[in-house]
Amino acid sequence: MTTDLSNFCGLQIQLDTEKPALTSGEGLNFSKPGVRTLQEMREVLLDKAINAPQELYYMYRDVYEISDKPLLEKHSLRFDLTLIKPDALGRELMKTAGHYHPGSFGELYEVVAGRCYCLMQKCLASDYQAIEEVIVVEAAAGEKIVIPPGFGHILINPGPKHLVTSNWVSSRFSSEYELYKKAQGAAYFVIGPADKPQFIPNPNFKKLPGIKFVRPARVIEKFGLSSPAPMYPLIRQDAGKLDFLNRPLGFDYSDIFVKP
Ligand SMILES: [Fe+2]
Repeated sequence: MTTDLSNFCGLQIQLDTEKPALTSGEGLNFSKPGVRTLQEMREVLLDKAINAPQELYYMYRDVYEISDKPLLEKHSLRFDLTLIKPDALGRELMKTAGHYHPGSFGELYEVVAGRCYCLMQKCLASDYQAIEEVIVVEAAAGEKIVIPPGFGHILINPGPKHLVTSNWVSSRFSSEYELYKKAQGAAYFVIGPADKPQFIPNPNFKKLPGIKFVRPARVIEKFGLSSPAPMYPLIRQDAGKLDFLNRPLGFDYSDIFVKP
C-alpha cells in the first residue's frame, strides 16, 4: 500500500509499506537510503542472538527541493527522512542505534507517519556511564521533538504502523555512535507489549536516574513550530527560526515539552 505523506512532510514523499520504502515526486534531491542492518545493531540490543529482521530502518539523507539547495547551504542545515519498520527486536520494540552529537548541537524531529518514543539521555562529560537525565517523549504524526543540547537520542517504533520521521539538523557535524556501542544500548531498553511498554534499565550504567515522561509542546513560537504544520517549509518562510540548530546554547529549552 502506498500512502501520500506530503501533508505531514511538506515535500512530495510517499510511503510504500510493502517494500518498505519512501518514494519521491519530481524535483527533489532524493537518493537511495542507507540501510541499518541487524548485524550493525547487534551490540546495542537486549537480545543479541536474534536472527530477524535483517533490515531495521532506512535513512534518506539530504532530502530537499532542488530549488531550495542554496537556502540549505546558506543556513548550514540538512533535512533527512527515516523510515523505521514496526517489527520487534526480540523482546525490544524496534529502535534506532542511538548517537550523541559533538559539541552542543541539538536536532529537530517531526513525526511524519506513525508514532514514536524518543528516548533522550544526557551523560556526564567526564563519564559516559553516569547519566544525569533521561527524557522519553511520546509523539504522533504532525508533532515535533526538539533535542536539546547535550542529549543523545534513539527513536523507538512501538508499532503497529511504519514510523517515518523527518529532521532538521546542522550540516556542520557528524553523529557519534561510539558511546551507545560502549554501553551496549541506550539508558533503558523498551520492551513490549506495544500498548503498555516497559522500560528496563541498562545495567551497563553506573548512575541512572528515573525517566521523565513528556509530550511535545504543540506550539513553540521561537522555533517556528506549530503542530501539525510541516516544518520543511521553514527553510523558505522563516529560516532564522532554525538558528538554534547551529547556535544551540543561545536559547531557552524549558518550554519544548509539556506534561503527558
Ligand atoms: Fe541526532
